[in-house]
Amino acid sequence: MLNINSTIKLNNATAMPLLGFGTWQAKDGETAYDAVCGALKAGYRHIDTAKFYGNEESVGRAIRDSGIAREEIWVTTKLWTTDALNPEKAFQTSLDKLNIGYIDLYLIHFPVPGLVTKNWLKLEKIFEGGKVRTIGVSNHSIAQIKSILKVATIKPAVNQIKCSPYNYDPEMHEFCKNNGIAMEAYSPLTRGNNLNDAKLLSIAEKYKKSPAQILLRWCIQKDIATLPKSVHENRIIENADIYDFELLDSDIVLLDLFSKFIE
Ligand SMILES: NC(=O)c1ccc[n+]([C@@H]2O[C@H](COP(=O)([O-])OP(=O)(O)OC[C@H]3O[C@@H](n4cnc5c(N)ncnc54)[C@H](OP(=O)(O)O)[C@@H]3O)[C@@H](O)[C@H]2O)c1
Repeated sequence: MLNINSTIKLNNATAMPLLGFGTWQAKDGETAYDAVCGALKAGYRHIDTAKFYGNEESVGRAIRDSGIAREEIWVTTKLWTTDALNPEKAFQTSLDKLNIGYIDLYLIHFPVPGLVTKNWLKLEKIFEGGKVRTIGVSNHSIAQIKSILKVATIKPAVNQIKCSPYNYDPEMHEFCKNNGIAMEAYSPLTRGNNLNDAKLLSIAEKYKKSPAQILLRWCIQKDIATLPKSVHENRIIENADIYDFELLDSDIVLLDLFSKFIE
């Protein structure tokens, strides 16, 4: 039975909570701090940030102040494209800003043309430094991951991509599964854009859950880690309240097809 502590096992034997908390556009300072405090209070144990979000200091402060043991919280941050020539320095800066001892997952935020494999090898070096438990990629295509796999000593553990029923890529999902790479969904709520879609509303009505909860439950039932973001306490709680129902297989198939209806 899935619950808020359910994890996905990664290819290096670490276990990442399926439900994560997104922080993009959670403004640095009290907004990001309060949002992360609220998420930890609501039971999330996986926080997603990035150098690019500019809020690592506030995110780290909230984690330190939570009183929750560091090893109980999974923390992801990311290498930004403009740091591609010096990933070691960027990693150290993120580590210093977060100030939580180590990072659970460090991702290449976007592939940089011409540096895809070079950057991966640099991430492997960072991993050898012992301050990050897991390394992976984000926004990488199948072809880019294949080129990484040709040179890698350490396989990427995760590909974090935009994913919801409205832009589901079954081919990427299958590729990740076949290669032992966990798929992680960003913008799982479509940034709020499709929450009033009639197709989604009718499924939500059937389960007596909100459209956001249906989208998130779809992810976790497909073993896709998911990262809803909100800076509102009621929504933070709502987005974690997805364990008292189960989508029927037939509804998952229906949701899988939503992307086909986009004109
Ligand atoms: N790797 C990448 O390139 C990448 C790119 C984008 C995002 N991400 C990560 O993925 C996370 C999530 O993606 P996202 O921030 O793009 O979008 P999202 O989580 O799909 O949607 C967030 C938006 O939905 C609203 N919202 C949240 N819960 C809601 C609810 N229950 N009902 C109605 N509206 C709700 C939020 O508003 P309020 O905050 O005002 O509540 C916000 O405007 C990011 O925060 C980030 O950590 C990664």
